[in-house]
Amino acid sequence: MAGEMADNVILVGFMGAGKSSVGRILAARLGRCFVETDEMITATEGRPIPEIFAERGEAHFRALEDEAVRRLALKRGDVIATGGGLPCRDGRLEALRAIGTVVWLSGDFGALYERALRGGDRPMLSGRTREQAEALYEARKPFYAKADFAVDTTALNPDQVAARVAAALAERLTTPPHPALSPTGGEGSSS
Ligand code: S3P
Repeated sequence: MAGEMADNVILVGFMGAGKSSVGRILAARLGRCFVETDEMITATEGRPIPEIFAERGEAHFRALEDEAVRRLALKRGDVIATGGGLPCRDGRLEALRAIGTVVWLSGDFGALYERALRGGDRPMLSGRTREQAEALYEARKPFYAKADFAVDTTALNPDQVAARVAAALAERLTTPPHPALSPTGGEGSSS
């Protein structure tokens, strides 16, 4: 498993995937600390994300995300929720995998979009039509798809998603990464 030394669990996915709610529940289930990159950014900037976008623009916000990713390298054993656009730059997903197991909270665009619109002020959605938001999701998918595994959140509530992520993590801990290493045999078995 990539990043097993730092042992963080990192949630990625589009706006409305439920990264924050699922992350909070998952951290409680696993007895770990919960960290959000958006919170790290608003704490250091001293103002909310819509204000950062309005006053300094998206490019500045992405630079703050770069800094947040660098600071994540210090984290050990945490559950980390990332902003929807954070992994969607060259090298970012790889940097996240270096510090833990990356989980993509995926889903049908319609379900994610409805949730995202209900969930407050999101500068990446204001000023975009539904079609433009869907195009953004499609453009981001190849980045999210580099995660260690995905959980489809479309028809699930945050408790159910957290349970699936926890089960998948437990399964990965008990399953040898390669059949040849399995105690019951596999490619390397002579029986
Ligand atoms: C963004 C998603 C937001 C936040 C910022 C930019 C994006 O986080 O980081 O508004 O580019 O998709 P959520 O995914 O939690 O909404």
